[in-house]
Amino acid sequence: MNQAQIKQQAETAKTMFAMENISKVYRTELIETHALRDFTLQVNEGEFVAITGPSGSGKTTFLNIAGLLETYSSGHYFLDGVNTRDLNDKQLSHLRNTKIGFVFQGFNLIPDLNAYDNIEVPLRYRNMNRSERKDRVQQALARVGLESRAKHFPAQLSGGQQQRIAVARAIAGSPAFILADEPTGNLDSLMARQVMELLENINDQGTTIIMVTHDQDLARRTQRHVQIIDGQVTEMFKHF
Ligand SMILES: Nc1ncnc2c1ncn2[C@@H]1O[C@H](COP(=O)(O)OP(=O)(O)O)[C@@H](O)[C@H]1O
Ligand SMILES: [Mg+2]
Repeated sequence: MNQAQIKQQAETAKTMFAMENISKVYRTELIETHALRDFTLQVNEGEFVAITGPSGSGKTTFLNIAGLLETYSSGHYFLDGVNTRDLNDKQLSHLRNTKIGFVFQGFNLIPDLNAYDNIEVPLRYRNMNRSERKDRVQQALARVGLESRAKHFPAQLSGGQQQRIAVARAIAGSPAFILADEPTGNLDSLMARQVMELLENINDQGTTIIMVTHDQDLARRTQRHVQIIDGQVTEMFKHF
């Protein structure tokens, strides 16, 4: 997107995601850890946001809460206009499955399923008939440029290809946004760049992306870069 398009998008954008004063406290017998404190972040539809911060600063806790994998101690989290506080477990799983795509540092593909079947797994949890699943898997494979690898098992793919299959799995369900935790952390620099370009391409087509990364160069390529220190947002950089 060019500068004018990004500015226009920022002005007309719809809020996709809003955390207001979220706190998360982990309690053990001996200590309390405040993993997030008064954490406030709003992300608009179509944004690509990079999150950086030192180890232990709360990045994974943030992603787990954003991904509805973990509860929070206080505050509010609105996802696409829905207050997640009001939902039961079944509603949370449904929201997670329909709205959120996950990409992990370690790819998290199922080793004894081929690429096609891995991409299909989350679709099977939805009431989607076989032919729609097939269309979606094939489109996702095409978008990541790996149609020819549909029958390959994860062990028969390079790290970069495995991560592209994981990206295909994340987008096959047409999520409202993608949460990526160090998606290039296990890749060499060439493969990392390919995966980043793929994510940028998916973002250009309209999918919101929130990516945790240690790589400052990648963080600078996104529209917005948020820094977390000690469980709080400390700085935000806009890159127009
Ligand atoms: N399940 C848990 N129980 C207790 N403390 C935890 C748990 N998960 C994370 N923490 C603590 O919360 C803080 C934030 O952790 P985390 O979100 O994993 O940080 P990051 O991903 O930025 O490295 C750390 O101090 C960590 O030790
Ligand atoms: Mg972490």
